[in-house]
Amino acid sequence: MISNTKLILLIILFTLAQRPIETASNRSFPASFKFGIATSAHQIEGAWNEDGKGENIWDHICHTNPDYIDNGDNADLACDSYHKYKEDVAMLKDLGVNYYRFSLSWSRIIPLGIAGSPVNPAGIVYYQNLLQELIDNDIEPLVTIYCWDLPETVEEYGGFPNPEFEEHFAYYVRVVFQNFGHLVKYWITFNEPLESCYQGYGTGTMAPGYSHSGLTDYKCAHNIIKAHAKAYHVYDEEFRTQQQGSVGIVLDTSWYEPATGGAADVEASERALQFAFGWYMHPIAFGNYPPVMVERIDQRSEQQGFNTSRLPKFTEDEIEYIKGTYDFLAINTYTTVYAQAREEYDIDVISWDSDMNVDMFLDDSWEETGSSWLRVVPWGIRKLLNWLSKTYNNPEIFITENGVSDKDGLQDDQRINFFREYLSNVLDAVLDDGVNVTRYTAWSLMDNFEWQRGFSEKFGLYHVDFEDPERSRTPKASAEYYAQVIATRCLVDVCD
Ligand code: NOJ
Repeated sequence: MISNTKLILLIILFTLAQRPIETASNRSFPASFKFGIATSAHQIEGAWNEDGKGENIWDHICHTNPDYIDNGDNADLACDSYHKYKEDVAMLKDLGVNYYRFSLSWSRIIPLGIAGSPVNPAGIVYYQNLLQELIDNDIEPLVTIYCWDLPETVEEYGGFPNPEFEEHFAYYVRVVFQNFGHLVKYWITFNEPLESCYQGYGTGTMAPGYSHSGLTDYKCAHNIIKAHAKAYHVYDEEFRTQQQGSVGIVLDTSWYEPATGGAADVEASERALQFAFGWYMHPIAFGNYPPVMVERIDQRSEQQGFNTSRLPKFTEDEIEYIKGTYDFLAINTYTTVYAQAREEYDIDVISWDSDMNVDMFLDDSWEETGSSWLRVVPWGIRKLLNWLSKTYNNPEIFITENGVSDKDGLQDDQRINFFREYLSNVLDAVLDDGVNVTRYTAWSLMDNFEWQRGFSEKFGLYHVDFEDPERSRTPKASAEYYAQVIATRCLVDVCD
């Protein structure tokens, strides 16, 4: 026999389960708010050596060191979007997105990548065709000039840590603006340089796979920030009057929630945000690195016996040149991490982590997903948006990536809940907190090559059959959900 207490408990649980999701807003997104979806070249195009494309660092690492990637996967064919771009645009049309964020493959456009080297006409034609197809379908292009696929030759010339990098990038962006600028109004120079530098040169978990944290990752960031500023000025001085577009950079961070309300943890959270996001955004907004980075890295470098700081210095002229080189603030964000104060690391530990000096951990109660680093924490995005707005004086904010991974399947209820709850928090940030978010971009249009995780982690709203040589695409349940949100601008069945 079931006891009375148990019965009451069951009734409560049943009632709770029947309640509508209270956090999903029944208010509408403003009419001017735009919805989009994103991919990147290396993750979807395939055709890795077709029609004159050069090798990039991910082609190189996958071919020379297959064990580096889960299941020895590579992106030689990926989703075959080089051949199936019209099908991709038809999917975008079905979703009803206002814009498509995709990236250009540098080594498809300039096979060697280096300044002064030949341009590949087939690469130009491919992207002109894609852009035209989007425009013909009333889908605005939001173009990322660089997303992680550095031409292998540029890497062999020293890659990002080499100060010459800026020249190679300036050459590339001129080719891009000259050939595509008449079709594009929104440009992103770099995607998530934090990951290119920290993982590519700091921890070795991304191509090119070096592990010199606290050293070459700082050089990498320094040269990317300068190259971004250069690209911004090239656009301003040579193209803006005629092409009338906007330029920004996509930076990424999680929300770092203080582990407790204590002052030391609150400071640890701010320090983590400054080391992850401020590392790039502070120079671009205000001209130089965040004071907390300068102070800590200068001091630790000295204590370690360096005769100069491991954090490179901008000259006064560079500070002026870099300051203000963004027309909008663009953020990729997925999750939340707890930040906690800790004892100083031993002084002989040289790394970005020890310079930052914050313990980070996830809450076991946060819902797990297909990626170990990604937990479902919808309230985190609202806190992050508020922090961005406050820290950078209420800029226009584009969310350029947000989404969740699964391991397989078409009935992706977790993704639907994820979008509903995250979008609800974005809406609260806009309507209740006055944060100036104007765009939301879901990651990703379809399952694709998730870098070191190969094809094992799937972020797509469309499923791709990687066993099928045709790479057939099928909408998941979330595609229907996102299309409905875009069509109604509403997160529940009926809006007020
Ligand atoms: C960030 C990157 O821009 C994208 O390439 C990646 O697939 C997603 N995050 C998910 O990890």
